[in-house]
Amino acid sequence: MSSSALAASEFSNPNLEPLFTGEQIQARIAEMGSEIARDYRESNPLLLGVLKGAFIFLSDLVRAIDLKVGVEFMAISSYGAEMRTSGEVKIVKDLDVPIEGRDILVVEDIVDTGLTLSYLLANLRSRGARSVKLAALLDKWERREREVHIDYLGFKIPDAFVVGYGLDYAERYRNLPYIAVLKDPNA
Ligand code: IMP
Ligand code: MG
Repeated sequence: MSSSALAASEFSNPNLEPLFTGEQIQARIAEMGSEIARDYRESNPLLLGVLKGAFIFLSDLVRAIDLKVGVEFMAISSYGAEMRTSGEVKIVKDLDVPIEGRDILVVEDIVDTGLTLSYLLANLRSRGARSVKLAALLDKWERREREVHIDYLGFKIPDAFVVGYGLDYAERYRNLPYIAVLKDPNA
C-alpha cells in the first residue's frame, strides 16, 4: 500500500450510474442456473465462455448449475468498424477440445449488434456439436443487426454503454461488483 493519500474509490466512481446490484445479478443467475440444470439434466453440457467479458458471469453461472458440466473458453477479437459491418470476427483463442456430439452452451456477457454471436454460433454448429445454445447476461436488443436467439437471458437493457461484472471500457471496470451505465467515456 502506498503511504500517499487514499486513492479515490473505483466502485463508487461518480461517472457510473448503477443499473443492477450484485444481489439482483446473483438472484437472476440462480434462476438461470436452475433452468439450465433442468433443461440439461440428461446431458453433460460444455459451457463455453467468451473471453474476456464473460469470465465473471460464467464463474457465477457454473456454481448455480447443479449438474456435471465442462468449462472451456474462446477468445474473439474485436475488429474495427470496417470488419464489424462485414460480420467477420476473428477467433484469437480457439477451443482445444473436439465438440462433435456435445451439447454446447455459449456463455456471453452481452449481445449488442449480434455480429459476434451470429458468427460464433454458426461456426460452432458447423463443427458438429449436437446442440448449441446461448446464455447471455445482458441483451442490448435495440441495437441488433443480426438475429440471435438467446436461450437463457439475464436482463434486457436500454441502449447505453454498460460496465462492470466483467464488462469493460478500454479494459477498465471489469472488477465492479455490479453493473453500471458509464455516463461519460471520456471522463
Ligand atoms: P456485438 O457483436 O455487437 O453483439 O458485441 C459483442 C461484444 O461487444 C460484447 O461481447 C462486448 O464485449 C462488447 N460490448 C457491446 N456492448 C457493450 C457495452 O455496453 N459494454 C461493454 N462491452 C460491450
Ligand atoms: Mg464479449
